[in-house]
Amino acid sequence: MLTNIDINKMNHLLETNEDARQIITQLLKNHQEAVSLISHEIRNPLTLISSSLQIMELEHPEVKEFFNWKQTMDDVDFMCSLLNELSDYNNGNTLHLSVFSIEQLLKNIAVSFAISLESEQSVHPIEFTSRIMPDMGSFTGDKIKLEEVILNLLRNAKDAVMEQSYRKIRLTADRIDDRIVIRCKDNGCGIPEDLQKTIFEPFITHKPGGTGLGLAVSKRIIEAHKGTLSFESKKGPGTTFTVSLPI
Ligand SMILES: Nc1ncnc2c1ncn2[C@@H]1O[C@H](COP(=O)(O)OP(=O)(O)OP(=O)(O)O)[C@@H](O)[C@H]1O
Ligand SMILES: [Mg+2]
Repeated sequence: MLTNIDINKMNHLLETNEDARQIITQLLKNHQEAVSLISHEIRNPLTLISSSLQIMELEHPEVKEFFNWKQTMDDVDFMCSLLNELSDYNNGNTLHLSVFSIEQLLKNIAVSFAISLESEQSVHPIEFTSRIMPDMGSFTGDKIKLEEVILNLLRNAKDAVMEQSYRKIRLTADRIDDRIVIRCKDNGCGIPEDLQKTIFEPFITHKPGGTGLGLAVSKRIIEAHKGTLSFESKKGPGTTFTVSLPI
């Protein structure tokens, strides 16, 4: 992650050194193109899966009775939208605003997450609970990007509790004055103090197979909504991430 000092140095080079300006501009362009390309390649097979599901639904309408069907269709739609967003990386910080019920969004996420836990329950199941305050009013924001943030926090919480024998995750949301405050609390391993300073930096991961992008992207999204993303963590009680969004 570039620090402010790096960015100042880069801006200085961009202004004063024509060769450096050309190389930096090209590198940034290549980087954006690589992200767009990867997203595009993943989106293609996903679009095929989505079409197959729609055909299945048309030819066998009874599948709609299956209790996970609608959620599965919604999740595939969500992934398609997410990849669209990524391939539109050049506008990474641009929000696509709409007015929606944050209560409904969070309830849908909670159901989706609970289903995903059910499908992989093990000897030590995860106790997932949620309490979403009713009547929080309508919210203007980027629905898809906010869903991505909450799912990132829930997935991190899930990874964190895996080593515990009693595993708990709780999602809460409240309207406090002119803010929506969403908390994701787990009783997992906690974040060691020496790692706490860097967890929001991209590519910082302490998991095999992690990209270390989850929290970096989440912070950017919340800050683009003029909100804050913070956490409190201790070995023992676990970790609570707090998203605070102005209405
Ligand atoms: N709830 C949590 N409890 C304990 N540690 C956490 C928690 N959330 C994040 N972390 C730590 O912060 C690091 C960075 O998290 P981040 O979501 O950015 O990346 P990741 O989860 O490692 O990978 P990715 O999200 O890309 O799969 C994690 O590797 C983990 O060490
Ligand atoms: Mg993560």
